[in-house]
Amino acid sequence: MKDLILGIESSCDDSSVALFDTVNFKIIHHEKISQELEHSKFGGVVPELAARLHTAALPKLAENILEFLPRVAAVAVTNEPGLSVSLIGGVSMAKALSLALEIPIIGVNHLIGHIYSLFLEDAAQFPMGILLVSGGHTMILDISNSGEIAVLAKTSDDSFGESFDKVAKMLNLGYPGGKVIENLAREGEDKFHFTVPLLHDKRLEFSFSGLKNQVRLTIAKCAEDGKLEANLSDISCSFQTAAIAHIMDKLKRIYAEKKWAKFGVVGGASANLALRSEIQNLAQIYGSALYFAPLEYCSDNAAMIARAGFEKYKNGEFDEISALKINPKCKFD
Ligand code: KG4
Ligand code: ZN
Repeated sequence: MKDLILGIESSCDDSSVALFDTVNFKIIHHEKISQELEHSKFGGVVPELAARLHTAALPKLAENILEFLPRVAAVAVTNEPGLSVSLIGGVSMAKALSLALEIPIIGVNHLIGHIYSLFLEDAAQFPMGILLVSGGHTMILDISNSGEIAVLAKTSDDSFGESFDKVAKMLNLGYPGGKVIENLAREGEDKFHFTVPLLHDKRLEFSFSGLKNQVRLTIAKCAEDGKLEANLSDISCSFQTAAIAHIMDKLKRIYAEKKWAKFGVVGGASANLALRSEIQNLAQIYGSALYFAPLEYCSDNAAMIARAGFEKYKNGEFDEISALKINPKCKFD
């Protein structure tokens, strides 16, 4: 019986493979090889290194599911957006599997994948509002009953997660920076009171580059005074406080208009507990049902790609092998 959707993800620095059981609505296998350690010493993802590591990791992950391959009905793969050289790895393997197993291939948008991380083993609950916070994106989305996506706000420069990565890099704390900055912030206090970006600006967009500059100047001053070590937690706390206040400022304005009955938070940075707690307070005011992905599935993973691919599979939305292209940007960018 062909009852599985194989998901493949390689859009950035995680190689991942998953199997979604279409009959029992279950993720029956998920494995990921992360490249964080290899990129850490560079303070960010090095594309050429990412490509080489995917080439080694993806076949290794595929080997672990050989016994399931006869049951795979279709292969779903992230083909946009992402690093071109990373996307190529997953898409090439998906095309080879599609040809060898004589099964359809389905290109999946990575951002839509993140949305389905909320409903890995359930039916989707649209309409709803979404905050997408990852290393590549910061967006507020409105999803209609039929799943149509409208972008209500996005960033004009860095993303929320990226700004954590850049602050961590400035503090020599490695990559990725989200978790390490969040942990340091918990130990510190908001001593530096950084200006919240675009606070009195009506534009519904995000910008993190000015905040990053404030942090850079503060780090330089602390280093000059020989007090950087002593201020690590307070710098992290002040940065995180301003970054979250920026998200909440724009989100509250849009929420006041949309008054969503259901709201979801997705993307790697949705693991941030301080952000989660602020959003919980907001959702409570409006009585909205709030959805978060399980922590394990906030960051990039193939389970969400397999699940999102299943939606297209149900509708017979398949791609031609030769026509399926990779796309570093997508229509939501
Ligand atoms: O979704 P994801 O795995 O990759 C992209 O699609 O970009 O998100 C990774 C991003 C990184 O920038 C990482 O620093 C950030 O999510 N991140 C966090 C936290 N955990 C991960 N940012 C803030 N707080 C966290 N706890
Ligand atoms: Zn992602």
